[in-house]
Parts: sequence; structure tokens; C-alpha cells
Amino acid sequence: MTDRRWTVAVVGATGAVGREMLRMLEERSFPVSRVRALASPRSVGRRLPFAGGEVEVEVLSEAAFEGVDIALFSAGGARSLEFARSAVQAGAVVIDNSSAWRMDPEVPLVVPEVNEDALDAHRGIIANPNCSTIQMVLPLKALGDAFGLRRVIVSTYQSASGAGQGGIDELFAGVEAHRSGEALPSEVFARPLAFDCLPQIGDFLDTGYTSEEQKMLEETRKILSMPELPSSATCVRVPVARGHLESVTVDLERRATAAEAREVLSSFPGIVVMDRPGEMVYPVARDCVGRTETFVGRIREDNALPGTLHFWVVSDNLLKGAAWNAVQIAESLVARDRVSVPRG
Ligand SMILES: NC(=O)c1ccc[n+]([C@@H]2O[C@H](COP(=O)([O-])OP(=O)(O)OC[C@H]3O[C@@H](n4cnc5c(N)ncnc54)[C@H](OP(=O)(O)O)[C@@H]3O)[C@@H](O)[C@H]2O)c1
Repeated sequence: MTDRRWTVAVVGATGAVGREMLRMLEERSFPVSRVRALASPRSVGRRLPFAGGEVEVEVLSEAAFEGVDIALFSAGGARSLEFARSAVQAGAVVIDNSSAWRMDPEVPLVVPEVNEDALDAHRGIIANPNCSTIQMVLPLKALGDAFGLRRVIVSTYQSASGAGQGGIDELFAGVEAHRSGEALPSEVFARPLAFDCLPQIGDFLDTGYTSEEQKMLEETRKILSMPELPSSATCVRVPVARGHLESVTVDLERRATAAEAREVLSSFPGIVVMDRPGEMVYPVARDCVGRTETFVGRIREDNALPGTLHFWVVSDNLLKGAAWNAVQIAESLVARDRVSVPRG
């Protein structure tokens, strides 16, 4: 990294992801000269902890990007569509957590361990993939490079925090309501989440898949530069507060034993293999909360199909799935001297 320091804006700083972004910037000693915390008018004047002091929340507006070098957006797609371009016009490089720009062909969709080079083509906006996609593409890239990837099938077990602070609150409110015999709330989630699993994340499409499942398919193809990769997802919301879990099946070009796959995955950056099932060593959400890595376990060959592997992937959706991946992109931009908006 250079000696230069940067003005960083966190848009949605009061949210579940935004607060983790501030924490990641601090924990990584990202070279900030100033941090600006932006949110809705509801939060103006709130003080958020940062680097031993506090930063006061300001309202999100076009003027707020004056002098900002890097803007980490995490306030929903509507805010990203409304403000990202004006932030870029003001000279900021935008790293956006929403789905607003992910499939725009001009916008790199980046997981640094997988396709960091895509950053060099940025024109001001860079997209952070969906949380479930991020943790899956790490092992897919590792196994794909080593054995060739033919097909992917995934079932997710996604925590309440994937729907933001409101999702966490609704899960806990549901547990309380269940205890006191009241009706369980379902404002954030389509159905009550407490003590249940919901096979719906996002809206249903004509295909029978949900928008979340479609995002996983499209984003995975874009990140891996495999536009035809056959892939299918079933996304399920589970009553876990934080951390997403996934069961993944891959068909490979060349047959790999579980031991060979374990070795390949262990040496891939950002992956930690936890796979000694006889000793009950496999990742669960509790192991992963607060960690930036992606954890893989239960690696095994299919009983009947040679070249097919199954494994289990767990990560902190608020960190690698959101805040850490975004700050990691910012670090890559600094290292690659790309904290600037190309003109023309
Ligand atoms: N949670 C995840 O695992 C995850 C993972 C990847 C991507 N994302 C994406 O990250 C974004 C934020 O998610 P989250 O989980 O942090 O949600 P959240 O906890 O609900 O936080 C939402 C944030 O957006 C701000 N906001 C809402 N309306 C606004 C407005 N009109 N003007 C300015 N700020 C506004 C909120 O500010 P106030 O506090 O002032 O309302 C808050 O800071 C979403 O786009 C989400 O899709 C989330």
C-alpha cells in the first residue's frame, strides 16, 4: 500500500453490514484520513464507534460525496441506483453491496481471491456479489482450476441477518412471541422464521425459482467467467442469527478423491478446511461468526457418480459475504493504484 490516506464514506453505516464495514476498516487499519457515516434522516446525529472515537451519522445526499475517495454502499438497491452515479461523478470509487449493478456488463463483480484482475476494468462502480454467492465461488474456483467444473447444485441455509438488522430483530421477536403464546411476526420474512425453515428468499419468478436463486446462478457464471455453467440453487432461510451455510454438489471434468479435493481447497486463499467428521470437526455458523474466512467441511465423493463431490461451506454473511469482501476490494484497489475514476 502507498502512504496516501483516503476519505471513505460508508453508506448505510447504521445497518448490519455498515457497522461491520466500519469495524473492518478499523481492524484492517485501512489508511483512512476521514470516515463519513451516511444513513437515512432517521439516524442523523447518531454516533457510531470508530477507531477508539466516534463518527457522527450524516444524511445521505449527493453533496455528501464531495471529497470522498471510496464509497462503500450498503443501504439497499434503491439508494445505490439513486446515488452511486453521483458519487462517481464527485470522484469517488463506489463499492456497492446491493444487487443494483451486479449484472451490468460495465461493472466488475469481484471476489478478490477469485477474480481480482477484473478490478482493473472498473469505471467507477464495483459490485460486491450476493453473500451466498461469495462463499460458494471460493471452493468452486479452487476445484474448477484443479479438476474442471461441469455442473453445480447448491442448497443454502441462510441466516436471518441476511435480511439486515430487521431480520435479526424479527427472529428474536418470533422466539419471544412463541414463548408467550402470541402470533409470530412475519414482516421481514414471507412466513414466521422462528423454529422453522423457509424455502423462499426473495420473490418467485415464472421459472419457479426465487430471485435469490437466480442471483446465485447469474453471479456465479459472471465471477467465474463461465457464462454457460449449468447450475441450480435452492435458497432456504433458517432460524440462525448470523452465518450462512451451504450444501454444494459439483460434477467435475476429472475425478477427484475427497483427499485430493481437501488438499486443493486447503491451499486456496481465504478457505479453511475443517473436515474431520469422525471427531465432529466440521464448520457450523457459531465457528464462523466474526471470521473473515470461508470454511469447508464434509468433503466426500458421491456414492454412485464418479467425478461428483459433495461438501459443506460456511461463512459469516456480514463479513466475507458483505463488509469484509467490500473492504478487501478497497484494499486491492489501493494496492493496484486504482482508487480513481477513469475519465471519458
Ligand atoms: N445482510 C447481509 O448479509 C448482506 C449481504 C450482502 C449484501 N447486503 C446488502 O447490503 C445492504 C444493506 O444490508 P443490511 O443487511 O446492512 O441492512 P440493514 O441492517 O437493514 O441496514 C440498512 C441501512 O440502509 C440505510 N438506509 C435505509 N434507507 C435509507 C435511505 N432512504 N437513505 C439512506 N440510508 C438508508 C439504513 O439507515 P437507517 O438506520 O438510518 O435506517 C441502514 O444503515 C442491502 O443492499 C443488502 O442487500 C446485505
